[in-house]
Amino acid sequence: MSAAPDKACAAAQEAAPRIDLARLLARIEALAQVGAIEGGGVCRLALSDEDRAGRDLVAGWMRELGLDVTIDAIGNVVGVRAGREALAPVMTGSHIDTVRTGGRYDGNLGVLAGLEVIAALNDAGIVTRRPVAMAFFTNEEGARFAPDMMGSLVCQGGLPLDEALRTKGIDGTTVGENLARIGYAGDAPVGAREVHAFVELHVEQGPLLEHEGVTIGAVTGVQGIHWTEFVVEGTSNHAGTTPMALRHDAGIVAMQIACHAREVARELSGGQLATVGHMKLTPDLVNVIPNRAEFTLDLRNTDAGVLAEAVQRVFAFAQAAAQAEGVRITHRSLADFAPVAFDERIVSRVEAIARQRGHSVRRMPSGAGHDAQMLARMCPAGMIFVPSVAGLSHNVAEYTHGHDIEAGAGVLLDLLMELAG
Ligand code: GLV
Ligand code: MN
Ligand code: MN
Repeated sequence: MSAAPDKACAAAQEAAPRIDLARLLARIEALAQVGAIEGGGVCRLALSDEDRAGRDLVAGWMRELGLDVTIDAIGNVVGVRAGREALAPVMTGSHIDTVRTGGRYDGNLGVLAGLEVIAALNDAGIVTRRPVAMAFFTNEEGARFAPDMMGSLVCQGGLPLDEALRTKGIDGTTVGENLARIGYAGDAPVGAREVHAFVELHVEQGPLLEHEGVTIGAVTGVQGIHWTEFVVEGTSNHAGTTPMALRHDAGIVAMQIACHAREVARELSGGQLATVGHMKLTPDLVNVIPNRAEFTLDLRNTDAGVLAEAVQRVFAFAQAAAQAEGVRITHRSLADFAPVAFDERIVSRVEAIARQRGHSVRRMPSGAGHDAQMLARMCPAGMIFVPSVAGLSHNVAEYTHGHDIEAGAGVLLDLLMELAG
């Protein structure tokens, strides 16, 4: 047979691939039922039983779509759709773990939109030149085990595997024992895979796109993230008998530091952010001066210099406040990631494709951490944002409209096809 009829036949089988929004929304709904909590949200803390059930569901879908699925030693799950040539794949993906009071879109959208792109390519009978891979990475949230983006970080060599496996979570158990417990300590080596380019679709998790009436965010980078855990140790005593001047109150020092961090964030230019999201007082009783306070501090900025200044100012205040109260203070780093810039070629392709598809688009940095920032260490990487209603995320009420999901998934589809050839 001559080449010409073969080509004609292949062209006849190929249709333009399109996102099936109903199918994508149905998968988002189904995954949201795993670990569902009141208010429409989800609790699937990393490596919990709920995370296992979510992983089983998504990995099952990946296999149904014909992907070659592997699990690495830190539990990252990657599915590869073969290309015409055995080249490094173009990859997309995100995470399916959530914070304790998470929404159904954070991370999940990027994973399930990746799956939808694969389904669309299958439906259209398209075989790309490069393989297309989709992944979900372990413990992106960092809510149970710090640091965040753990799976993608280990994958890029930013954290040794054995150190990650030894990491204790908020319940005192380790990453390694939980990975084994849920059956996701895989046998694929971490970081062995070469990736041609990585693109992640994600909800914005902030108010800008909605506020400006823009559909697509072409993400330029991710701001720096600095997490610390402080422990303050004082002396418990009777709340009714101990004069104020004679107290060694661990709790009040923790609260002073929290308030000061907010002040520092207000004073510094450049969008400095400060959050104390966890605080635990001991013995935690109405009439006892706390002898111990444990709390976390999350500082972020797109400007590494301003972030460093914020860290320095809060830490200096913490020492002074502890000294003034006569208590002991210690701290340990939970995460420390410099700001990341995404690949300019990918950022501009996101912009161009969004415009070609008739969507409004703007460039913007990401306030949240993402797996794409770790992948950016090894290959050209970028992200596509879609609007979050009322800017809500890490909240059960997190919501993104179907038409925006369709727009974002469409841009992802075109960009992955372009990158895969
Ligand atoms: C991850 O969601 C983060 O805290 O940015
Ligand atoms: Mn996320
Ligand atoms: Mn998140």
